[in-house]
Amino acid sequence: ACKSEKGKIAIIGSGLIGQSWAAIFVGAGYNVTVYDIDDKQIEKALANMTKSLKSYETQGCLRGNLSAEEQSKLITGSHDIKACMENAIYVQECVPESIEMKKSVFGELDKYCTKDMVIASSSSCINSSQFTENLNHKTNMLIAHPVNPPYFLPLVEIIPAPWTATEITNRTRQLMEEIGQAPITLKKEVPGFALNRIQYAVINECWSLYKNGVLSAEDIDKVMYEGLGRRYAFIGPLETMHLNADGIKDYCKKYAEGMQKVSSTFTPPPIEYDAATADNIQEELTNIVPADQTQTRKEWRDERLAQLDKLKRNK
Ligand code: NAI
Repeated sequence: ACKSEKGKIAIIGSGLIGQSWAAIFVGAGYNVTVYDIDDKQIEKALANMTKSLKSYETQGCLRGNLSAEEQSKLITGSHDIKACMENAIYVQECVPESIEMKKSVFGELDKYCTKDMVIASSSSCINSSQFTENLNHKTNMLIAHPVNPPYFLPLVEIIPAPWTATEITNRTRQLMEEIGQAPITLKKEVPGFALNRIQYAVINECWSLYKNGVLSAEDIDKVMYEGLGRRYAFIGPLETMHLNADGIKDYCKKYAEGMQKVSSTFTPPPIEYDAATADNIQEELTNIVPADQTQTRKEWRDERLAQLDKLKRNK
């Protein structure tokens, strides 16, 4: 392993998300130590990360100035959580999504946390106040939620608990920016954070349009990837309103009444994701992506996202 001057990052849990974080941090030149409760998994993860970095290099989308080989040398595995955290400036927890699991792992992390350490959880829907309240270093802990695949979708949702120190939240945000991610900071905890709340609003309407027999599954998805999605890859919904009229106030003057009329016909949430509709959508989607082709399709998606990321980073 090589020693970087930039400092050390500890990754707890070396599955899909732990490996993604490691690749991002070494791209920015940090040393990364990866811990997992499953010893065999650590070896698998190390081999897999080396392979991924190499393949990013081949595809021309490797981050940073170091070669894939040099970046791989910045990663080490650790079978001991205490050693993994020793001298780390930042700890990113990536264990499975369950409150009991987060509680027990954060209890461990709390033991070895130092005054200046940041401990962030990758949790996609559990707010950290649900598992850090009784810990000694609770002011050092928060959520930093990535989006899959994090190497190509840079958004990170930072959500402090009510007791997280502002300095820790700010430092996390700065670090995310420095490593090439795109952080947002929620000013308070809400269920689902921001991305999933917005995503669920979209899914709810897709489900209703399908169930009401308005569109096929294929055409619903097309609305997004040939229409809204393309627009939103560059500007968000609020700026879209702003640009589609003479400012957002003018947009509201012109269109709010129509929007409200349409919105009054929405099926109010919570939408029931009923089995019959799920069966029908499944059948349609299976015709588009046969069961034996989902892996190829995922790889194709990640490759397209890598291209989009390249385009966006060139700005
Ligand atoms: P995963 O199942 O791929 O990996 C979890 C890893 O944690 C496994 O290698 C497992 O051996 C290890 N582990 C289990 N207990 C442990 C312990 N006590 N100490 C250390 N390691 C332990 O899960 P994945 O998908 O990487 O998810 C991790 C976290 O990231 C979850 O909180 C999830 O909600 C969040 N997340 C997942 C996303 C996804 O698309 N998969 C996206 C964004 C966040």
